[in-house]
Amino acid sequence: MAKQAKFPTHVGVIMDGNGRWAKAHGVPRVMGHNAGMESMKRIVIAASNLGLENLTVYAFSTENWKRSTEEVSGIFKLIVKYVRSELEELIENNVHINILGQYDMLPADSVASIDRLVASTAHCTGLNFNIALNYGGRDEITRAVNELLAERLASGDASPVTEADISAHLYTGLCHFDIPDPDLIIRTSGELRTSNFLTWQAAYSELMFTDTYWPDFTPEEFEEMVRAYANRERRFGGRKEESKA
Ligand code: FPP
Repeated sequence: MAKQAKFPTHVGVIMDGNGRWAKAHGVPRVMGHNAGMESMKRIVIAASNLGLENLTVYAFSTENWKRSTEEVSGIFKLIVKYVRSELEELIENNVHINILGQYDMLPADSVASIDRLVASTAHCTGLNFNIALNYGGRDEITRAVNELLAERLASGDASPVTEADISAHLYTGLCHFDIPDPDLIIRTSGELRTSNFLTWQAAYSELMFTDTYWPDFTPEEFEEMVRAYANRERRFGGRKEESKA
């Protein structure tokens, strides 16, 4: 697809519906996540082929620890599997991986796989593929505020905290490259909420929803939504003639 005038710079995806997909197919939930990982692989390559600059997926939230041990460890095992099977293709496609979240709390083999994924794609200059892992928007903001407080206490700086200060201390701000706020957030499976995903950064994001369960979400549907973004009018709180995009 040729890039459009209003092509999103950053698309966020809430990959929802793996569990219901598994139920509909009469298989364990972990198999739904496995099918979800296959879908994620296809969408990453589709995003890269479209020339998208940033794609962020919500892979594991700070709230997902409440699920059964079997399901949680099944998702973590998928990370190891993903890195083993996909690293070469990601590098071939020039995909640069970045993690948003405290992934050092995951099991050691998952952490080692993620470190390898990040280090081996560090030289890639194509799509920035951000994986939100053990990520929560409120947790991210709380961490940013606490870091700011600690810095200010240490330096005796009593000046008011600004929005820019907070942005700079979020995972997206601490990253070694610039991750802009998402232009578009897509959620699959018919749920109409954002569930603590990029809470600060999504203040002005366009939202799109589809009833499709994540494992059935195709590159064609993804491309359709990315194209549909061009028809959205973004005003960022201003009047029509003042709109930025
Ligand atoms: C939400 O569906 C999905 C998740 C909590 C996990 C998503 C994980 C993957 C797609 C695999 C990621 C793999 C790597 C390598 C990062 P749900 O379980 O909440 O579905 P439900 O609402 O239908 O129960």
